[in-house]
Amino acid sequence: MITLGIETSCDETSVAVVENGRKVLSNEVVSSLRYHTRYGGVIPEIASRMQLEAIIPVSVQALKKARRRLKDIGLISVTRGPGLMGSLVVGVSFAKSLALALNRPIIGVDHVVSHIYANFLTAENIPRPFVALVVSGGHTSLFEVRDFHDILLLGKTRDDACGEAFDKVAKLLGLAYPGGPQIEALAAKGNPGAVKFRCSGTQGEFDFSFSGIKTAVMYYLRDESKKSASVSGTRLSADVAASFQEAVVDVLVRKSLAACRKKKSSHLVVGGGVALNNRLREKMHQSARAHRINCHFPVRTLCMDNAAMVAGLGYQLFRRGISSTLDMEICC
Ligand code: KG4
Ligand code: ZN
Repeated sequence: MITLGIETSCDETSVAVVENGRKVLSNEVVSSLRYHTRYGGVIPEIASRMQLEAIIPVSVQALKKARRRLKDIGLISVTRGPGLMGSLVVGVSFAKSLALALNRPIIGVDHVVSHIYANFLTAENIPRPFVALVVSGGHTSLFEVRDFHDILLLGKTRDDACGEAFDKVAKLLGLAYPGGPQIEALAAKGNPGAVKFRCSGTQGEFDFSFSGIKTAVMYYLRDESKKSASVSGTRLSADVAASFQEAVVDVLVRKSLAACRKKKSSHLVVGGGVALNNRLREKMHQSARAHRINCHFPVRTLCMDNAAMVAGLGYQLFRRGISSTLDMEICC
């Protein structure tokens, strides 16, 4: 079955054509990122306006690349939430119109779960149940996945998301948005043991908190800037980036492996934009190996928001008898 996937939860407009939930025939992604950079974050109104303009040309391009036509589509899968309201409305309205015009089934899927599914587009089958960590700009959550429609939330961030913390700390260091890749590049030149940053503790065993460490970085930079005129572009800023990244990676690895132990899971699946981070990949693989846990990351092109993961997840749910109706609402 050919599934058309549509993803418009944040600043990307993405449309993909996926065969039988696995074979990615096309996965077009257009981002409005450059229009947001100067504001230091995504401006929802700009994102949704760009998506309104992009959704039809991106869809045409996705079909063309996949060498498929509208009549070949068997299922339409769309991100229903969570995300920016105006952005979700564009994707969901477009998906509904197509479903109605083509007389095809539609399914609304959860964006966070689709990040987990990104792993299944390329990996051989990962045995279930497994533990999943989703680390993105909007979410940081640990799950036990029994099946794609049977997922137990083990814990989540109580304040900022992990990617959001990277973005905010990058801003404090005078780096551009999105901050994750910038922090990673700067951290490579610094000493991760230079400053003792720590993520705050949480009541829930598998919850996270990142706002405290961001504030700690802010005070540290404030105190240091009193001693010397500028910290940006110095050895000190590289040390701060490296120390911050290490503390964040530490807590992600520690809690993910603890969740695997508690759930007796020998497979850990990671997804979301922060899964691009090489230090996280390295340390997670290292520690997982030591605990005899198989650790999976999506291929790099499927970590950030994309519609292939939405199409794949939609197909799997549809196969299990799940679908949506044309009065489906978005859930921010
Ligand atoms: O999953 P995603 O594309 O969007 C959401 O669903 O939120 O993730 C975007 C987030 C941003 O916060 C970005 O800074 C972060 O992923 N990110 C990274 C890296 N690349 C992107 N964080 C750390 N290291 C990276 N290399
Ligand atoms: Zn995402």
